[in-house]
Amino acid sequence: MIDRATVDRILDATRIEEVIGDFVSLKRRGANYLGLCPFHQDKNPSLSVSSTKQIFKCFACGKAGTAVSFIMEHEKLSYPEALKYLAKKYGIEVVEKEQTPEEIAARLKGESLLIVNEYAQKHYQQLLWDAARTHLVGLSYFKERKFTDETIRKFGLGFAPAGGKSFAATALEEGYKEEYLVDSGLCIKRDDGSLSDRFYDRVMFPIHSLSGRVIAFGGRILTSDKSKAKYINSPETEVYVKNRSLYGIYFAKSAIANKDCCLLVEGYTDVISMHQAGIENVVASSGTSLTVGQISLIKRFTDKIIVIYDGDAAGIKASIRGIDMILQQGMKVEVVLLPPEDDPDSFAKAHTREEIEEFIASNKCDFITFKTNLLLKEIDNDPYRRSQLINDIIESVSMIPDQIERNVYVGQVATRFDIKEDSIFQKIRQLRTRRNSQEQARNRVMNSGPAVSLPGEYEPVPAGYEDSQPVETVETAPQPLTDAFLAVNEKEIVYYLLKFGEYPLYTDNSLHYGRNIRVADVPTVAGYIRKSLEEDDLQFENPVYRKIYDEYFSRPREEDEDCEVAQGKIIRFFSTHPDQNVSATMMDVICDNYPITVKVYRDSLTPEEQMLGKNVPRAVIAYRIKVIDRLCAATVKEVDAAFKRGDGESCKEKMRFLSALNTVKNNLTKELNRL
Ligand code: CTP
Ligand code: MN
Repeated sequence: MIDRATVDRILDATRIEEVIGDFVSLKRRGANYLGLCPFHQDKNPSLSVSSTKQIFKCFACGKAGTAVSFIMEHEKLSYPEALKYLAKKYGIEVVEKEQTPEEIAARLKGESLLIVNEYAQKHYQQLLWDAARTHLVGLSYFKERKFTDETIRKFGLGFAPAGGKSFAATALEEGYKEEYLVDSGLCIKRDDGSLSDRFYDRVMFPIHSLSGRVIAFGGRILTSDKSKAKYINSPETEVYVKNRSLYGIYFAKSAIANKDCCLLVEGYTDVISMHQAGIENVVASSGTSLTVGQISLIKRFTDKIIVIYDGDAAGIKASIRGIDMILQQGMKVEVVLLPPEDDPDSFAKAHTREEIEEFIASNKCDFITFKTNLLLKEIDNDPYRRSQLINDIIESVSMIPDQIERNVYVGQVATRFDIKEDSIFQKIRQLRTRRNSQEQARNRVMNSGPAVSLPGEYEPVPAGYEDSQPVETVETAPQPLTDAFLAVNEKEIVYYLLKFGEYPLYTDNSLHYGRNIRVADVPTVAGYIRKSLEEDDLQFENPVYRKIYDEYFSRPREEDEDCEVAQGKIIRFFSTHPDQNVSATMMDVICDNYPITVKVYRDSLTPEEQMLGKNVPRAVIAYRIKVIDRLCAATVKEVDAAFKRGDGESCKEKMRFLSALNTVKNNLTKELNRL
């Protein structure tokens, strides 16, 4: 944790135009700067940087945020990492917040393991290139595999020779502690108390963390001796959690984000050869089958995965296992099978980048087609196997969290196998209900244990942001209007508050939406929102949005400021809020160009601030309608219950209330349409 005072000093020093100027050439336009947006293929300068507000916005792709969020997005860093980046740029010393002795010990331990690993990486790398000695055998192995010098250096490859002085002896001499040499898995303590090396007579593949630090190694034998393990890998340590690590993620993350797609292959050499061929959005699961932790690592950069596995039987089996898990995480998955004699490594070496891209584009297929083609071959019209296949595919479809998306696939399966959609839906309901109850049972068990916190890169996910599976309730208890029901609308209102709260609702009568307000009394956006919500006694349900709302109005304010300056202070206040939930949500709200109810207007050419007079009331009305919708649904249920009880009086009363609600709703809908 970086302490509050340091965060303030960093932000005081930070000038957004300088920060962005390091990556984009900016030209001054009045109070703002203009440049080519780095987040999409920008032809005309669409990126506007405001030095008074200290925010940026791209008018083409909609991306917007602060200097911190720019660095987070552009450099793919976490919030604290971005702050440290800025601290470095402005020469500010970062003081970490005081930690408990356990935290300090864990951090020091993790840091020590990283240091030892980095030392080992340098050591093995030096031996690889060390032409004066007899170790050329390592280098020639890589050369034989057609890795260029540049590639070998980029991935930090190395060599652990068989003879000669052991790594253990060298490291001890250099003063590295035995404890860390053993705990990192680089050395093994023998029964007689001496240290020996885990890796010898192998070429070394360092494994990097998301931020590029060496966390482990894989060592490959140089021969095809079947009696020895082809690869030996570092054991799990505090810094190497296998099911949360992906080989190549550090080198691939920007390309994955830019291409909005991640290619998934099996092994170290597959990743390296693809990079060498110029395809950089590639990571490897390193032989094990894919885990949820690995998928969520990818999910930080894209929701599209293309699995490229060997065309042999083992490769196909492995890719099938991964598919359901990827679907379950709400990601889109496609599969490419290579020609049977190839793996991505050999394929990448034999083809140019264009050829590989072309092959992927024309051979990728969605999981239904993939499974169908694959399994239909073995079926030969055996009705039992046919139904097995269909069930298998339906099971995959049932993994998709999003209902709408699921329905699309239901349609496909129905057409393809000529079965009724209804029976597919029914099957999916069964599967999902069963899984949900299993999941709940599991969660109960999990939640009773102590909280586990992991060192390093994995910051805890703020509450409300977990990728938890929404529990399907439609089929069982009729309770469709859950918390998330209002979330989009609440978010939209918070968006206007954070970005334009201090602006006048309108500056020109023609843009003003109707109520009789004299221009002199034009409310601010925040004032308007507050008044409207108070009229209806409405309070946000999302706790973070509510906190932002409450603090917005309770924070100390100065009068008579220019509205841009005032808004800049507000953005600053929330983006540096000590509650990380609040600061993260702030980023999320103002940076996200999520589908908003007034998106059409947002995307139009008129600057947003001139549309506030229409868009803010629209957002508020849309929210109020949703609230009423929910109240209606609840009242319908009450009517129902009263009817079943035979309570005629209560039934009538509730019906009257329902009709009053409908009148209000109709009026609001009319108002919305008028805007
Ligand atoms: N793997 C492993 N231990 C083994 C075999 C494989 O950890 N004994 C992991 C490695 O991460 C390896 C991946 O599984 O990269 C894929 O295995 P394989 O295809 O056999 O290895 P490649 O990396 O393709 O190596 P090569 O091209 O040299 O065969
Ligand atoms: Mn291979």
